[in-house]
Amino acid sequence: MFLKVSNIKKYYGEGDNKVEVLKGINFDIKKGEICVLLGPSGSGKSTLLNIIGAIDNADDGYIAINGEKTIDMNEKSLTRYRRKHLGYVFQFYNLIPNLTVKENIEVGAYLSDSPLEINELLKTLGLYEHKDKIPSQLSGGQQQRTAIGRAIIKNPDILLCDEPTGALDYKTSKEILKLIEDVNKKYGNTVIMVTHNDAIKKMADRVIKLRDGEIRKNYINDVKVNAEELEW
Ligand SMILES: Nc1ncnc2c1ncn2[C@@H]1O[C@H](COP(=O)(O)OP(=O)(O)OP(=O)(O)O)[C@@H](O)[C@H]1O
Ligand SMILES: [Mg+2]
Repeated sequence: MFLKVSNIKKYYGEGDNKVEVLKGINFDIKKGEICVLLGPSGSGKSTLLNIIGAIDNADDGYIAINGEKTIDMNEKSLTRYRRKHLGYVFQFYNLIPNLTVKENIEVGAYLSDSPLEINELLKTLGLYEHKDKIPSQLSGGQQQRTAIGRAIIKNPDILLCDEPTGALDYKTSKEILKLIEDVNKKYGNTVIMVTHNDAIKKMADRVIKLRDGEIRKNYINDVKVNAEELEW
């Protein structure tokens, strides 16, 4: 199994205020799958994604990629693990304001031994004509494309996306979802995407639904719908 999430538990607070935010989460993901993680606000989606991404620690359980458990790693190997295996895309793009599109994407390339070719990637992203602009000269969708480029240029095994279309309008959201789909097809990266938009589940290979820190559903779509054809 490529990615194993085993009995992940997470608590916040202490004593009477102690809240169990993740109550023992178990699932496996195959290489190259698009997994959509759904659930209402506060159900634990971002917490789980950050634990998978080794940005946050679990209180119990473990994450393993290709049999390597993050819990067994020291800080140095964790850093290497994040660099080698993971790309992150967030709702707000976190671009560096005084760098161009191309330079912002290249920031991701420095973290990799085998980065993708920048000009080809700029074309895939639909950003080639905008490569010399700085973020304030871009639309929200173009900024998110740049952020996806920065995450994907190192060709990570897993692309983690937390509400990647949360700040975007309908049409731009669909373009970004199509881009994530195209990247998955072209480069074969596994994708884990958090959303509270139920319609997005149709483009996934695997759908996982969380509620109150527990898995309510975990299933494979027999038929996928192209991102372009999603409606909500
Ligand atoms: N640092 C923290 N301290 C205390 N509680 C926290 C902390 N971070 C998250 N929580 C709580 O954990 C629960 C899950 O939060 P999480 O951010 O994972 O939810 P989510 O499913 O991503 O929600 P949303 O859709 O609103 O982004 C929430 O009840 C939240 O208040
Ligand atoms: Mg969240």
